[in-house]
Amino acid sequence: MKQEATIEGGVIRFGKLGGVAVITLTNPPVNALGAGVRQGIAKAIDRAAGDEEVKALVLTGAGRCFSGGADIREFGQPPADPTLPAVIARVEQCVKPVVAAIHGVAFGGGFEVPLGCHFRIAAPDSRFALPEVKLGLIPGAGGTQRLPRLIGPEKALGLILSGDPIGAEEALRLGIVDEVVKGDLVDAAVAFAEARVAEGGPLKKARDLTPDPPPDGFFDGQRKNIERRARGLIAPWHCIQSVENAVTLPFDEGLKKERELFVECRDSEQSKGQRHVFFAEREAAKIPDVPKETPVQAIRSAAVAGCGTMGGGIAMTFANAGIPVRVLETSDALLEKGLGVVQKNYAATVKRGRLTEADIAARMDLIRGTTDYADIADADIVIEAVFEEMAVKKKVFGTLDAICKPDAILATNTSTLDVDEIADATKRPDKVIGTHFFSPANVMRLMENVRGARTSPETIATVMALSKRIGKVGVLVGICDGFVGNRMYHHYTRQANFLLEEGALPDQVDRVIYDFGFAMGPFAVGDVAGLDVGWRIRQRRAKTRPADERYSPIADRICEMGRFGQKTGTGWYRYEEGGRTPIPDPEIEALIVQVSKELGIERRTITDDEIRERCLYALINEGAKILDEGLALRPGDVDVIWIHGYGFPVHRGGPMFYADQVGPREVFEATSRLAEAHEELRPAPLLERLAKEGKGFKDL
Ligand code: COA
Repeated sequence: MKQEATIEGGVIRFGKLGGVAVITLTNPPVNALGAGVRQGIAKAIDRAAGDEEVKALVLTGAGRCFSGGADIREFGQPPADPTLPAVIARVEQCVKPVVAAIHGVAFGGGFEVPLGCHFRIAAPDSRFALPEVKLGLIPGAGGTQRLPRLIGPEKALGLILSGDPIGAEEALRLGIVDEVVKGDLVDAAVAFAEARVAEGGPLKKARDLTPDPPPDGFFDGQRKNIERRARGLIAPWHCIQSVENAVTLPFDEGLKKERELFVECRDSEQSKGQRHVFFAEREAAKIPDVPKETPVQAIRSAAVAGCGTMGGGIAMTFANAGIPVRVLETSDALLEKGLGVVQKNYAATVKRGRLTEADIAARMDLIRGTTDYADIADADIVIEAVFEEMAVKKKVFGTLDAICKPDAILATNTSTLDVDEIADATKRPDKVIGTHFFSPANVMRLMENVRGARTSPETIATVMALSKRIGKVGVLVGICDGFVGNRMYHHYTRQANFLLEEGALPDQVDRVIYDFGFAMGPFAVGDVAGLDVGWRIRQRRAKTRPADERYSPIADRICEMGRFGQKTGTGWYRYEEGGRTPIPDPEIEALIVQVSKELGIERRTITDDEIRERCLYALINEGAKILDEGLALRPGDVDVIWIHGYGFPVHRGGPMFYADQVGPREVFEATSRLAEAHEELRPAPLLERLAKEGKGFKDL
C-alpha cells in the first residue's frame, strides 16, 4: 500500500491503494473506539478529503474484527472530544464515497460507524449487533436513528431491544450491508469503492432516508411486551422511545434526543452495575497463579457420566458448542429416558423458533449414549453427574481413573461434596476438578469451577477456557460446603424462612425479592427446583448441625406433607392443573402460623424493608466471609456467580457491587442492629473493616 502511515499514536493507519484511501483501525484487541481512535478517524477523514488523489475512502479494522464499539472504560470518565456522534457525522458528510469494510464483530459504536458510511461490505464471518441495552444503555451514536431509516423501525427495534448479533447473510437480507464478499476484504472494498466512483451516483446517507411507518400501535405493543422483563430498568424503554423518535421526528432532532436518553442511561446506577458485570465476567477468567501462558489441553471430545436432569443438560451444552459427547448410564432404560428428555428439550426449542429441525438433528448426532465405560475411555474430559453421594462418586471416579486415558480431565458436577476427597479415589488428583453447572445446565450460564488442593494449573486453565468455549461464564472457587453460590444461597433462604416464623408469608417475601429485580423470590424458586432436593441435603446435615443453631422446620414439614413444588402441584404454593402460577395456599399459611406457635414466636407485622435487608444483607455478609476465607478470588467473582447462577438482577451489579452502592457502612450498621435479635447476621470482620476504613468491596 502506498504511503502507509500511522495517526494518533498508532491507533489508525492511513494508506492509499490507487485512488482509494484505506483507513484502518489498529487498536487491539477489539478496536474499541476510545478518544485516540476517534481523533484519528477524524484526522484521517480530513486528510483523505483534502487529498486530490483520493477519490474514495475505505474504513476497516485490523486484527480480529472491525470494532467492538465505544470504549466502555471511558463511560465513567469525563467525555473527551471529538464525540463518536461528531466523528460519524464527519464520515457521513464526506463528499467522497466512504465504504466500510467489515469483518468479525461490528458491535455498538462499531456498528454505528459503518451506518454513517455511505456503503458497507462485509466478510462472511462478520457479526452485527447493537448490544448497548445489555450494558444498561441505548445506542448513543445515531444507531437508533440511522438503523430504522435503513431497515425499518420494526426490524431495527428488534435488534436494538435484544442486543443480539446477526450474521453477514442476514445483514445482507435486511439491507444493512450492500455485499458479502469472500477473499481479501480490503481489495474487494477498494474495487467496490472504485466502481462507485466510476458510477458517479449519489452517496447513500442513512440520515436522508425516510423510515417506513410501523403498523398503528406498534410502539405501545412493544412497551407492553417488555413490561415484565424490563420492570425497573431504564434502557429498554428508552430504546423504544428513541426508535419511535426516528419515525416521528426529523433526523437531527431525533439524534439530539437520542444523545439525551443515552446520557441519562450512561449516568444511571443501573448502567454502572451492568458495566461492572461486563468487566467482572472477563476478570473472572484471570487466575493470578495460572498465568495466560499456561498450556491448555485440547478438548476434542467429552463424556458425561449420568444422564439425569443435570447430565442431560450438560451433554446438550457440549453438543450446542459442536463438541462430540458420550453419555454414560447404568442401564439402557435410564439412557433411553435421559436422552428422551434431551430430545424433548430440543424439540421445545424448535417450537419456539430458536433452532431448526436440521440444527437439532446435527446436535443429537453429536450426543451418543452408552452403558459401557470402555466407550468413554478416549474422551478428553469426563464430567461426572451421578447421584450426590460421596460413596457413589468415589466409585465412579475410581472406575473412570482406571479406564480413561491418562491425560483425561475428570470433573465432578457436585454441588456440595469435597472435591479433594473425590480426587483421592484416583491416581490423577492433578486432573480432578469441580465443574458445578446450574440447572437447567443447557440454559444457565454459570460454571463454578472448583479447585482442589492438587488440581494442576493446566487443568484449571483448560477448564476455564472450556467454560468460555461452551458459552458459559467460568468462575474459579475454592472448596467449602456449598462452594460460593449455594453457601450464600443457604443464608439467604434461611433468613426468608425465619421471616415466615416471625410473621411474614411466602408471597410477601417473594414479592419484595421480585420487586428488587429477581425473576422469582426464594419460595417460588424452591417450588420450581423441587423441595425434596434441599430436604435430602438437610437430612444429611442434621447429624452435624449444632444443637443450639436456629433451624426453621417449616420447609421439612411441607415436604413431609408430600408437597415437593410444581412437580407435585403443591409446595410453598398451590398450582392449578398444569399451571405454573403460584397461588397462596391457606393450608401453608395455617402451617406457618402453627409453627410460630410451637416455637413460641409471637407473629408481628414484617415490613418490606426488613425482608429486603435481612435476605440481601445475609447474602452480602456471607459473601464477605467467603472473600475473607479466599474461597472466591474477588468481589466481582461473587457478583458474576449470583448474576449467572441465581438470577440476581444484573442492573444491581451483583450482591457485592450492590453493597458498595448501598454503602458498606450502611450495610454494617444495619447488620449490627439486626444481629441484636438475629445472631446469624453478626457482621463479617471484612464488612466491619471496610465500614470503618470508609472503603468498599471495589477497593479490595
Ligand atoms: N470497550 C472496552 N473494552 C472492551 C470492549 C469495549 N467495547 N470490548 C471488549 N473489550 C475488552 C474486554 O474487556 C477484554 O479485555 P481484557 O482482555 O483486558 O479482559 C478484551 O477486550 C477482549 O474481550 P473479550 O470479550 O474477552 O473477547 P471476545 O473475543 O470474546 O469478544 C466482543 C469480543 C467485542 C464481542 C466482546 O468483548 C463484546 O461484546 N464487547 C462489548 C461490545 C459492546 O457492548 N459494545 C458497545 C459498547 S457501548
